[in-house]
Amino acid sequence: MIIHSAKYFNGCASLDKCPKSDLPEFAFIGRSNVGKSSLINFLTQNNKLAMTSQNPGKTILINHFIINDKWFLVDLPGYGYAKRGKAEMARLKKMIYSYIEGRETLYNLFVLIDSNIPPQKIDLEFIQWLGEHGVPFSIIFTKTDKKSKSEVGKNIAKFNQVLTETWEELPQQFMASAVKKTGRDEILNHIGDILKATKS
Ligand code: GTP
Ligand code: MG
Repeated sequence: MIIHSAKYFNGCASLDKCPKSDLPEFAFIGRSNVGKSSLINFLTQNNKLAMTSQNPGKTILINHFIINDKWFLVDLPGYGYAKRGKAEMARLKKMIYSYIEGRETLYNLFVLIDSNIPPQKIDLEFIQWLGEHGVPFSIIFTKTDKKSKSEVGKNIAKFNQVLTETWEELPQQFMASAVKKTGRDEILNHIGDILKATKS
């Protein structure tokens, strides 16, 4: 999959405000600060496309970016950032969950997991919810540049061990570093494969 063009399309605060479009879309979700917006910039090779920040809670809208004028990459707000306050957290949660459940053109959701820490309950519960709702998803272990290969490997193995308790087959997985610029081809090829497989 080659990206020829990547443009900001729009940002919306609820599912009903999302673009009225039949174009396929691929969205990125995960805990605040896991690197969703950075990954979108890395995939599109445009560091100014999605807004990133050292502080969690940067992305607060459902942001659509149009790729090659044919499909969307979607940057979502992170989950689990408690400092926002209860009401704001609940509002964002509703926005994210209703988008994921209700967006008919969502071809695949990429769930980003920080490869530097052991399995987190919030991520495992979220993945469980996806399974219960039949959402097609893949996992991307992010920030693989921060720790040694063996530590990253251990965290991923532990994560998968927990997943195998509930999943017969593990979901498709990728590793990526927006800093070391690794994992891009694999993720883009996966998107390309899904687009090819679903072409009517
Ligand atoms: P929210 O929008 O707040 O939910 O966060 P996000 O998931 O979009 O994270 P964002 O892309 O804004 O990145 C958060 C921080 O992690 C920034 O300081 C990034 O520079 C850093 N970061 C992102 N990707 C990587 C990576 O691959 N390696 C390292 N070392 N840092 C990264
Ligand atoms: Mg973000």
